[in-house]
Amino acid sequence: MATSQLAQLAAQVADQVLPYLPEAVQSHASNVSPVALVALLAAVPAAAASLAASAASSSSSSRKGRLPPHVGHWVPFLGSMVSFGMRPLDWLAEQRKQHGDIFTFTMFGREMTYVLGPDGNHAVLNGKLADISAELAYNSLTKPVFGADVVYDTSNPVFMEQKRFVKAGLSAENLRSYVPLIEAETLNYFTRWQGQQGEGELAKALAELTIMTASRCLMGEEVRSNLDESVAQLYHDLDQGFQPINFLFEKLPLPAYRRRDIAQKKMADLFLDIMKERRATGRTNNNDVLQVLMDADYKNGTKLTDIEAAHLMIALLMAGQHTSSTTGTWCMSFLAANPDVFAELTTELYNELGGDWSRPLDFDLLKRLPLLDACIRETLRLRSPIYAIMRKVVRPVEIMGHVVPAGHYLCASPAVSQRDPEVYEDPMAFKPRRWLDTSNNAQMQKILRAETDMAAAEDFGFGVVGGSARSNYLPFGAGRHRCIGEPFAYVQLKTIIATLVREFATFEFVMGPEAFPKEDFTSMIVMPEKPIMIKYTRRERSPLSGAAVAAP
Ligand code: HEM
Repeated sequence: MATSQLAQLAAQVADQVLPYLPEAVQSHASNVSPVALVALLAAVPAAAASLAASAASSSSSSRKGRLPPHVGHWVPFLGSMVSFGMRPLDWLAEQRKQHGDIFTFTMFGREMTYVLGPDGNHAVLNGKLADISAELAYNSLTKPVFGADVVYDTSNPVFMEQKRFVKAGLSAENLRSYVPLIEAETLNYFTRWQGQQGEGELAKALAELTIMTASRCLMGEEVRSNLDESVAQLYHDLDQGFQPINFLFEKLPLPAYRRRDIAQKKMADLFLDIMKERRATGRTNNNDVLQVLMDADYKNGTKLTDIEAAHLMIALLMAGQHTSSTTGTWCMSFLAANPDVFAELTTELYNELGGDWSRPLDFDLLKRLPLLDACIRETLRLRSPIYAIMRKVVRPVEIMGHVVPAGHYLCASPAVSQRDPEVYEDPMAFKPRRWLDTSNNAQMQKILRAETDMAAAEDFGFGVVGGSARSNYLPFGAGRHRCIGEPFAYVQLKTIIATLVREFATFEFVMGPEAFPKEDFTSMIVMPEKPIMIKYTRRERSPLSGAAVAAP
């Protein structure tokens, strides 16, 4: 999860808050800049937090050692919020050049300490529970959306067990059964892009398709069949509760907050009703994650309760939606901008299908598409949806010869490492083959070795996590908070992208390669700026079978 993409936050808060202030205050407030208004609204609690943090910081620094260098700023309290929020990755890379791999800056009254590079990634992702906490960093944002007693609203060992349950639901056997479901959903969805040739909007299509496929595979067919009606609106209202404003203000008397709370309850009720219905009808032979949670027991013998299962399902929906849908959108955008790679991918797929476009995809076939795999890897290198990972410091912690005081937010940014020109040749270029032809590249070999390094392997309670966090490639994180959705995300993305490559002979931006979308840092996930208009030509079809026929 990102620290915050706060550049436009001030305007966002002002827009939402202003209509609800008393008239007299409104008339004054409308003359004040949004930034000042937000600062005013936040001043009391945040100033108190900031004072407490700086008190902790000065006592710890005198007690234990040197504080990290502090980035200067002009506006007290807001600090570097605007410059960071506008283009965080470039800004972090610039600060790194100036200050080195560790530095602190003030943002909205909070002290953010970034630790960059492989050692920084290791310090955050493998930090000790007694030193740093994800729960303290995230729970005020996630609890109102997910619900109580799951994820960051429970003790870490309990959450680790909850991750174990979900991981069991994502078994190879289940993943195998999801491929035909995702393929069918994709083919069905893209009938909306009509005609042999035409234009369509990519980001909307992938967002809708991702929620359809994830709900069908993970949540169960009952949720999928409700999706066009009630669930899509509930999802939208929950998602609106997952914005940077919610990170800063846990509670505000605003309609979006109220809609979030109502949606949370309704969504939980939906899952509770499905569980009740499954039990009442004995229909408990399902290969979705919901069924695994319904049957799960903690190690101490107690059952995962239905309400916990419902809240965990909401957490999975939120964790997997934007991450996968933006990755798919970026990947198809890279392919639209690189027709040579699109053509190579077409040939790879055509050959694996034995020259028969009508052959269905399957789990084993997807494993035999190295270029497709490399395209997704390269997309995640350049466009990690979660570009910064955050923890809160519980007790002063020594990193890279400095002491980071209690109260600071400690952040890693694998995304900065993934664009490091010292490590990746031509770092901003989309070159999937860099993952395949590594024989003459010691840096790439090192990265791939780190992924399979079992010396650092550890079981935090949800199965062994291998691989070193001291790496320049970590789009799924590492350590106890490592992503458990990666295998599902890969199956989902590969199936969707392979289906699109099979369906479309050409897939390009309407406005030409220059129309490649810019990064939008204003929400919690790095999204592409919309709309992304694509012009397509479908492959020729056999008049008898309706299947695509033309060779690449
Ligand atoms: C391309 C897709 C995805 C990316 C790039 C991604 C990335 C990440 C990252 C970086 C983390 C570590 C967060 C941290 O350390 O604070 C994480 C954790 C997690 N992800 Fe994903 N994720 C993706 C898809 C999914 C999906 C599909 C699911 C669910 C089905 C999922 C569920 C989770 C869960 C449960 C955690 C654990 C959080 C924790 O332990 O604190 N993710 N993900």
